[in-house]
Amino acid sequence: KTTLEGQHFLTLQDFTKEEILFLLDYALELKEKQRSKGANHLLEGKTLGMIFEKSSTRTRVSFETGMFQLGGHALFLSKNDIHLGKGETIADTAKVLSRYVDGIMIRTFEHALIEELAENASIPIINGLTDDFHPCQVLADLLTIYEKKGNLEGNKLAFVGDGHNMANSLIIGCAMMGIDCSLAVPKGYEVKDAIMDKAKILAAQSGAVIEQSNDPKKAVENADIIYTDVWTSMGCEDEMDDRMQAFAKYQVNQELVQYAKDDYLFLHCLPAVRGQEMTTDIIDGPNSVVFDQAENRLHAQKAVMASVMGGN
Ligand code: CP
Ligand code: NVA
Repeated sequence: KTTLEGQHFLTLQDFTKEEILFLLDYALELKEKQRSKGANHLLEGKTLGMIFEKSSTRTRVSFETGMFQLGGHALFLSKNDIHLGKGETIADTAKVLSRYVDGIMIRTFEHALIEELAENASIPIINGLTDDFHPCQVLADLLTIYEKKGNLEGNKLAFVGDGHNMANSLIIGCAMMGIDCSLAVPKGYEVKDAIMDKAKILAAQSGAVIEQSNDPKKAVENADIIYTDVWTSMGCEDEMDDRMQAFAKYQVNQELVQYAKDDYLFLHCLPAVRGQEMTTDIIDGPNSVVFDQAENRLHAQKAVMASVMGGN
């Protein structure tokens, strides 16, 4: 039993550095046990409700598979299947589901919705992506960096792309864990001041250097990790044409990566659009670890579920 039992997992900043390190260690332990076929039915008899208001491949499959591997059950509830936000309030949905299931994972648009769900639920709520944050992804990213580099602190991560949910969660995660983080985003697509300010406060404690500019070369200079995300996130489809123009000079390609360290890691949360945010030779090249990173969603989220849903 950890102190995390019963807690929501809405953003990384709700946790301490020690708690994140605990989750990473626990994820490694569960990964090792799964590989050696050890039984791990930590959530036997428990159910996770999974609400999806946006599409998903990794989040849906890794949470559902993770619950199965932990001996529990997962319910897939798409926006077409439940009344949430249409015929029923968020508060009522939270109160009703709390009587049936032991945890809820939700992917939605506004971060305020997940906060309202959490305020009204008596079970843990896990953020499976909002417009503002994607903490499960960044937990898996930290696990990947730790496995590949042997440490978190001392690395420099360059994020080139949109100052949206991935950039927000990465800058918070890096700031907490002592990873220098340099963002390069087009004008008008920057991470909001409130999140930069929060990241800088966290960085002051860890010693990380956090910066944001409009200059991809500056961000990638001497980087250990290069990270990018789609130019058009879910919910922003109407802006696609403007975005293609705004992001044209923010592609991760051979010309840009020459400014990074030779052994840089290429990370991407996926799904990816080859030819847009990065060229095919980068994502499918020798420095790319995107599929190890995708696999780590499963292990990281098992650690989260087992901890907050009272399984360990
Ligand atoms: N990275 C990620 O969250 O992928 P999905 O949208 O497929 O869940
Ligand atoms: N920024 C992307 C991440 C997808 C995992 C989106 O929100 O669509």
